[in-house]
Amino acid sequence: MKELSVNHLLGIKYITEEDIQLIFETADHFKEVINRPIKKVPSLRDITIANIFFENSTRTKLSFELAQKRLSADIVNFAASSSSVTKGETLIDTVNNILSMKVDMVVMRHSSPGAGVFLSKNVKASIVNAGDGAHEHPTQALLDAYTIRERLGDVAGKKIVIVGDILHSRVALSNIYSLQKLGATVKVCGPKTLIPRYIQDLGVQVEPNLRKALEWCDVANMLRVQNERLDISYFPSTREYAMQYGVDKSLLDSLNKEIVIMHPGPINRGVEITSDVADSKQSVILDQVENGVAVRMAVIYLLASKIK
Ligand code: CP
Repeated sequence: MKELSVNHLLGIKYITEEDIQLIFETADHFKEVINRPIKKVPSLRDITIANIFFENSTRTKLSFELAQKRLSADIVNFAASSSSVTKGETLIDTVNNILSMKVDMVVMRHSSPGAGVFLSKNVKASIVNAGDGAHEHPTQALLDAYTIRERLGDVAGKKIVIVGDILHSRVALSNIYSLQKLGATVKVCGPKTLIPRYIQDLGVQVEPNLRKALEWCDVANMLRVQNERLDISYFPSTREYAMQYGVDKSLLDSLNKEIVIMHPGPINRGVEITSDVADSKQSVILDQVENGVAVRMAVIYLLASKIK
């Protein structure tokens, strides 16, 4: 049986193209499972997983929980805001206490970049990064690439533009790594203040003009404006951002081709994209969410098979 080259999923940076293809092949099988009348397999009856979220989440948390339930794993959920972390307990102590209750795998979202890497070096469990600050969000990038593969047949050779706040986006960084590993060309587009200086070192070109970026690409991934991470003013106003970097239906229809619109969610309707774009047939936003369950099932199943 083929297996992953890693024992943890800490970031796309640390996995190979072969790992990604294996995750996709496994997700194809699980996508068929979750569309059956009985959406469940007994594969992980002997595995216990803790979901520990130090930051808010809707999609990722629910998607991981559903993926684990569909695989018949036992799960425990931990929300930092209502835990002893608020009394000053360290991350390692918190996780080691959870692990003493015979937990095999930890899915963690944390506001500090590198929190998952740190944990993997200090505790005995398989760690899955569910987003670490502005660093990586590997399962989001995997489900994004899986959705492109599903819609366009392949990721290799495709042109993808990531639009918006690249500077603070873990989705952008993980997408850049995964899309390039799979043979796509990536450009970014957004306010100059939100494009990191090192971006060209990653082999990514900057296209400041949204119309030109859309005319070039096959897929536009529209990032959320993360007001909670904007400590200073990076653009004059939300209205101005929407005018320069938002996609509305008239812009989409004026292109001489049909591009695919993605968004990791949650959407600020009328800012990154208008409602008629979000709900158009060119949008794969709900496919991304559906595919997230199958992709996360694949990640958990493949990592669990390395524990047994
Ligand atoms: N895409 C994403 O990570 O969404 P949540 O923050 O709701 O998990």
